[in-house]
Amino acid sequence: MPRRLSAPDILAQKGQAPICVMTAYDYPGAVLADRSGADMVLVGDSLGMVVLGYQDTLSVTMADMLHHTRAVSRGVERALVVGDMPFMSFQPGVEMAVANAGRFLAEAGARAVKVEGGRDFAPQIRAMVRSGIPVMGHIGLTPQFIAGLGGFRTQGKTAEATAVLRQDALALAEAGCFCLVLEAMPEEAAQAITESVPIPTIGIGAGRRTDGQVLVMHDVLGLFERFTPRFAKRYAELGKAAQEALVRFCGDVRERRFPAEEHVTHLSAEELERLNALLAGPGKPG
Ligand code: KIV
Repeated sequence: MPRRLSAPDILAQKGQAPICVMTAYDYPGAVLADRSGADMVLVGDSLGMVVLGYQDTLSVTMADMLHHTRAVSRGVERALVVGDMPFMSFQPGVEMAVANAGRFLAEAGARAVKVEGGRDFAPQIRAMVRSGIPVMGHIGLTPQFIAGLGGFRTQGKTAEATAVLRQDALALAEAGCFCLVLEAMPEEAAQAITESVPIPTIGIGAGRRTDGQVLVMHDVLGLFERFTPRFAKRYAELGKAAQEALVRFCGDVRERRFPAEEHVTHLSAEELERLNALLAGPGKPG
């Protein structure tokens, strides 16, 4: 069994090889992500959109996240499993944040959590880290703040906005985050942040100059058809392939092509003879 990567291993990768992060939400996805060589498998609250069918991530609960993180943990042997803290599981205060973050490690097999938001949440992050819980930060487009942001919009589009994001990044690194997701911002903004902080940055829609990249598995595999963000690259069209397979299955059932002889179990000749005798004897049905 390969050695499990830890938060310190990821931290030590800054300036070394690019870090690859993949989301996963269930056991088969986790096995695929881990075998592909991902350094971290993130059980993102994007779960709400790509698996549970919500319009955004705000309805995702701790129960949802723990349930899916457990399934992912069972499928991962090498990567660091990171559980995403859902909306209102950490924002209200330090005590709640530590208690909920602890559940990802104690009950669901994660070895780190992710928290959206900037310097306002440094107290929560500091307390989690002090309690032995490695924390991945997440700034830029933070979908849990969509109501205030007014939509899924690129952040840091001016020099001033980039400077604010950089201050947030420094505050999160100072609070003890071992790495930081930078979502939906200009490449130059992400580069400035990456060069300013001592922890690895993981970009999504943040250009080429971050220390690593993360994508949502359903975008990579072409499994989510409602929309694909412009920054995501689809490496396969599994949704189309799956649809074609299912249509063929229904056609085969209706045309009685499935099951075929190779899918069928038969009684032995002896048991068949006994059955026929039984059905022909006294008290036979009908
Ligand atoms: O929820 C998620 O999947 C995420 C990643 C896109 C970073 O936050």
